Amino acid sequence: MNMVEIERALRELRLSGMAQTLPTRLMQAQAAQEPFLQTFAAMLQDELDRRRTRLMERRYKRSGLDEKVGLADFDWRFNPKLPRAACFELHTLKFISEGANALIVGKPGTGKSHIAKALAYQATLAGHDVRYLEADAEFARYALGNASERADLLKDWVEPDLLVLDDLFLARRISEHAAEVLQAIVHQRYKMRRSVVVTSNRVVQDWGRYLGDATMATTILDRLMHRCTMLEFEGKSYRLKEAAARIAINPESS
Ligand SMILES: Nc1ncnc2c1ncn2[C@@H]1O[C@H](COP(=O)(O)OP(=O)(O)O)[C@@H](O)[C@H]1O
Ligand SMILES: [Mg+2]
Repeated sequence: MNMVEIERALRELRLSGMAQTLPTRLMQAQAAQEPFLQTFAAMLQDELDRRRTRLMERRYKRSGLDEKVGLADFDWRFNPKLPRAACFELHTLKFISEGANALIVGKPGTGKSHIAKALAYQATLAGHDVRYLEADAEFARYALGNASERADLLKDWVEPDLLVLDDLFLARRISEHAAEVLQAIVHQRYKMRRSVVVTSNRVVQDWGRYLGDATMATTILDRLMHRCTMLEFEGKSYRLKEAAARIAINPESS
């Protein structure tokens, strides 16, 4: 086989990682008079690396996350009362294998979404199937769908290892269909011991009001809180701090 044929064979065998690095590895082998096994091992590694990267990219895409955030870029000094130890404990992802949940409730701008996204992203890196939803918007989309679209969405929200419902009850009142799907998600995931992370600006005492149904709120909360870490985010808004910093840098823009 000549080079063209080798490259074609590699692609046919779906060894695109090897195909991509072949010219470089060939040059390297010739330049260093490398033993065959060393070159071959390097090429196998290229293929493995490429597959792992693509798998992780695919998992990230499927998660619905819009950014790759971590705990490393979180400033714990800004709001010293945040439950830092509990956040790091969740970040170990043990809660996912235990089928436990987390409920992050507190003031706007204190980092609830940041922490929830960091957990979700970490879970994709660890190989879990994750869905991150901006809860109100996705539930509104659900309410507008036809029966088969609804069934597909519900399935997509029940099956993953971890589901993040970000900013639940942002709109205060959610539609009847949205309330029903929330109940269905929580019930089904509870039965299968699959983890849910919820963030909300609303205290759980008021959920009945936002759901328009106190009994439903109780059954949802019962299941969510059965195996659950409760985190309260008390403090000032990091968004306001960032806005203030922008105004300070650029006074005429305000
Ligand atoms: N302690 C913090 N350190 C660094 N960035 C933070 C911190 N708290 C919040 N942020 C950032 O401020 C913005 C608002 O935070 P967010 O997590 O959306 O708040 P919440 O969901 O509680 O309303 C985000 O860009 C987030 O990354
Ligand atoms: Mg948020």
